[in-house]
Amino acid sequence: MTPNDIRSAAAEILRENDRGAYTVPTKGLYPFQWNWDSCLTALGLAQLDEDRAWTEIETLFAHQWPDGMVPHIVFHVYDDGYFPGPDVWATGRPTPTSGITQPPVAGFALRRLFETATDGEAAKRRARALLGAVDRWHAWFYEMRDPAGEGLVAIIHPWESGRDNSIDWDDAFERVPRDGIAPYTRRDTQHADPDHRPTNAQYDRYLWLVERFRSLGWDNTKLHDASPFQVVDPGFNAILIRSCADLAWLADWLDEPEIARVNRERASRGLAALESLWSAGHGQYLCRDRRTGALIDSPSVGGLLPAFAPISPARAKAIATRIQALAASARYLVPSHDPADPRFSAKRYWRGPTWLIVNYMIADGLTRAGEWETANAIRSASIDLITTGGFAEYYDPHTGEPCGGGRFTWTAAMVLEFLKSAEPQP
Ligand code: SER
Repeated sequence: MTPNDIRSAAAEILRENDRGAYTVPTKGLYPFQWNWDSCLTALGLAQLDEDRAWTEIETLFAHQWPDGMVPHIVFHVYDDGYFPGPDVWATGRPTPTSGITQPPVAGFALRRLFETATDGEAAKRRARALLGAVDRWHAWFYEMRDPAGEGLVAIIHPWESGRDNSIDWDDAFERVPRDGIAPYTRRDTQHADPDHRPTNAQYDRYLWLVERFRSLGWDNTKLHDASPFQVVDPGFNAILIRSCADLAWLADWLDEPEIARVNRERASRGLAALESLWSAGHGQYLCRDRRTGALIDSPSVGGLLPAFAPISPARAKAIATRIQALAASARYLVPSHDPADPRFSAKRYWRGPTWLIVNYMIADGLTRAGEWETANAIRSASIDLITTGGFAEYYDPHTGEPCGGGRFTWTAAMVLEFLKSAEPQP
């Protein structure tokens, strides 16, 4: 496939999954609007239609909760092909939504849309209208998910990380019961190969947590402390830190000094606190189980994603070195888990496969840090994956085999982004 062939195939997928004011991640498996999918998809949409790209993020934020949370799913239309649907979440929102959140990539996406806009006046108007809402979401994180003020936020459900069944959660997840949940039928395994998806035991625990939070009326002042699962994920925090830094940059442009100040302060506290997650032994960051206080011995891509945040040049170099080492065991960078770990699984969702959104964020950060060679290797692997396996949800890092859902929106958006710029150069 030539770059132009890839571009037109990607544009076709974005059009096909466009529902007017939002996109679905893929037909069948994910028939609603997902939070971080939409924000990253907006970057690809901007190459086709800037106005439509802004709308994608505006639609998401139209469903922000009064407390500031932006939910991970907005159930715009009824569709019983997905489980758990709005009746299980029962969040009581005017348009039904889930009751948990997702990686806060909106601040980053907003800056990027603003910087690349050709219609500067429209961009100013639309960015200004979203600025306060994104700032409220950031404030919500530190208030609700960092009650002790350590500078890092916890996720309270694996779905919040976006890396649903990562090996990172295995031990902490053991603490979540499986009993007492309402009987249910999974729908995901009717759309995708069950061997590429989380296990039934994991689904039981996902549902147990949803039922627990629902029983507390989705009151975020209670959920963090009530959750048996509280994990501080370096990847999630890095995305939040980057979004805070980018929102501060945007607020300066839009002459909103207070929003700029608080977001800069959040980013710098977060960066300092992130150091507590560094593992010299692994040469990367690790998650921390907030219930036990211990680092989680699990070398996943969550610990490489901090490259996306403005970490020190020494840390960025160490992450680049680690990724170069992974290239020896994974043909297609960047595997979501280290193949040398016996728990690695090449096709099972976040336990090994390569994801283009993660590649995009890591490559973006490494480019900023001047780690060109590794950034280029990630970019080439991403484009090769499209040529080998089409626009899949994720890929086997050894063979490039497409896994999960097909004709995937954010995969198409990310390859448009990779192709937009020439190879990063010094
Ligand atoms: N990723 C989850 C799912 O597979 C929910 O966000 O349904």
